Amino acid sequence: MNNPPPRIVVTGRIPESGVELLRAAGDVWNWTSDDPIPADVRDAQLGHADAVVTLLSDRVDDQFLAAAPRLGIVANVAVGYNNIDVEACTARGVRVTNTPGVLTDATADLAMGLLLAVTRRLGEGERLIRSGTPWKWGMFMMLGTGLHRRRLGIVGMGSIGQAVASRARAFGMEIAYHNRSAVDAETEQRLGAKLVSLDELLATSDVVSLHCPYTEDTHHLVDARALLTMRPSAFLINTARGAVVDEAALAEALHKGTIAGAGLDVFENEPDIHPELLSLDNVVLVPHLGTATVETRAAMADLAAHNVAAHLKGDPLPTPVN
Ligand code: DGY
Repeated sequence: MNNPPPRIVVTGRIPESGVELLRAAGDVWNWTSDDPIPADVRDAQLGHADAVVTLLSDRVDDQFLAAAPRLGIVANVAVGYNNIDVEACTARGVRVTNTPGVLTDATADLAMGLLLAVTRRLGEGERLIRSGTPWKWGMFMMLGTGLHRRRLGIVGMGSIGQAVASRARAFGMEIAYHNRSAVDAETEQRLGAKLVSLDELLATSDVVSLHCPYTEDTHHLVDARALLTMRPSAFLINTARGAVVDEAALAEALHKGTIAGAGLDVFENEPDIHPELLSLDNVVLVPHLGTATVETRAAMADLAAHNVAAHLKGDPLPTPVN
């Protein structure tokens, strides 16, 4: 008798190309509503799942894993996997994969977009026009900050950090970076990038852009002290994870002028946002759009599906985490 096909659970809506690839690998059950999957529905499906495709809004913890006794793989459709307890997965022999590489350019583009938006006051300008406030061109109207010869400090010099550095070079910026270890000499030379301590980076950068993963070590890496270390003229960009920054401390720093501005794609308690940020003109806020292009989201779903298919065939995983 033939074995039944493997069961694959997809906990949210993902691009169709990814679902097609999964269908070729097994029996797919997909929660296709934009509302979060109710826990009882999810657990009933996990009960006979061999593989699960998760979104960053899923918490994969002991409780999740306990509902999934047959599970062999969690394929997260995101490069960040702070939503997954990797240790708990490893302890149960469950493989974890993420989606690095395919989203590097989209995320770096958005970081540059935020950088330009906050330094050139694009959000403020948009709000002014949309509010119907009368205005006319003026020599001193809404002056921003130029980027040429300014220093960009990159925290986390992985592929996204490097992609931001290379874009910033095209804007004439100088690059400093802070990372656990130095990147290779060729990359440093190509990007004109200099490894510095976090405190030096904070104290000397005109723009600080965060590209590190969110871990226990990076929780509130940018706190009240770090913000005080930054220049009053400096800007902070966060396209990494919200909780890398102490959001309450940032709101206070922006309010008091401890730093000049911020561009934020991610928030500590998404989708909630610190109320003070909403009333400040010197912060640009977008709703976690770093990877939100049609091409990138499809590539992320496809990569997650390739990981599931490889696991079910017993092949090496394209992008393993554990
Ligand atoms: C990621 O891939 O980690 C992004 O935050 C998802 O948009």
